[in-house]
Amino acid sequence: MQQLILKVNKLQQLTSGIKRFEFVSPVGDDLPVFTAGAHLDFHLDNGLIRSYSLANNPEESNRYVTAVLREETGGGGSKYMHDNVSVGDELKVTGPSNNFELADIPGTHILLGGGIGITPLLAMGHKLKAENRPRHLHYCTKSREETAFVEEVEQIFGDNLTFYHDGGDPSKGINLKETIGVQTIDANLYICGPTGLLSAARDVTSHWTVGSVHFELFQSTKSKEEKAAEAKLDNRNQAFEVELAQSGRTLMIPEDKSILQVLWENEIEVLHACEEGWCGNCVVDYLEGGVDHRDEVLDDLERESKLQVCVSRALPGGKIILDL
Ligand code: FES
Repeated sequence: MQQLILKVNKLQQLTSGIKRFEFVSPVGDDLPVFTAGAHLDFHLDNGLIRSYSLANNPEESNRYVTAVLREETGGGGSKYMHDNVSVGDELKVTGPSNNFELADIPGTHILLGGGIGITPLLAMGHKLKAENRPRHLHYCTKSREETAFVEEVEQIFGDNLTFYHDGGDPSKGINLKETIGVQTIDANLYICGPTGLLSAARDVTSHWTVGSVHFELFQSTKSKEEKAAEAKLDNRNQAFEVELAQSGRTLMIPEDKSILQVLWENEIEVLHACEEGWCGNCVVDYLEGGVDHRDEVLDDLERESKLQVCVSRALPGGKIILDL
């Protein structure tokens, strides 16, 4: 896992709630390359780890750009970024890593962004434009004033761009059924935005071919009731074995611990952030085993070979062989 120190080079308030952050190397070096859709995990001084997507052109090697929405009711990461981070500060990050890759296939790439969800889609737009690949951005916000990166998206997408301003009432915004209800041949869809938009878009596209709908979550899409029901099921967890194929070690995962926690105890580092199964960071390939996936990020195809070690468990009586 790559650790970096980044220096804050520029800050800019883009809308009333969204701030743009530009980072450079403290010693002027080139930064590690990143791919469109990638994010960095920021290890904040208040102990939180927060993932923020990179928005700039992946061809740029001298800077990383992201933007953060200040969330009054969130866990405190965005408030910390807005209120405590100043130009010249140095921040510890891990990454860049990417759970939201552009598919390397021909056909149209349809990007659907809501609010701050524009950040990874911007980097994707840069990449698609540079390669002259068919693309369209559907960009949903409250109003033009509350829309971040307006000029940049207009420049990247030109006529292949539709804005939807709902004034704060989602029922007046994008008609998802009309817009993405039918999958056009070879289309791939990338969704990033608030939970409501994401859930609705996933419902409307549930018939799209497996692997053609990609999404990035900023938070869990589960309701309080769903989480409470799952917590009850957690009480019935069973212990199971995990074998690490590369080292040949076998670890016992007790009923009250996740695979991720046991990996840590054994000083095996795996990227992580949410520890709730929605950020996608802790993904690991597995080679064998019946898996009780419990995450919100992997699609059926991905689940055939990947799992999220913060939440996934073996099916009762089973064992999992990880590619670690
Ligand atoms: S740490 Fe976020 S999905 Fe596992």
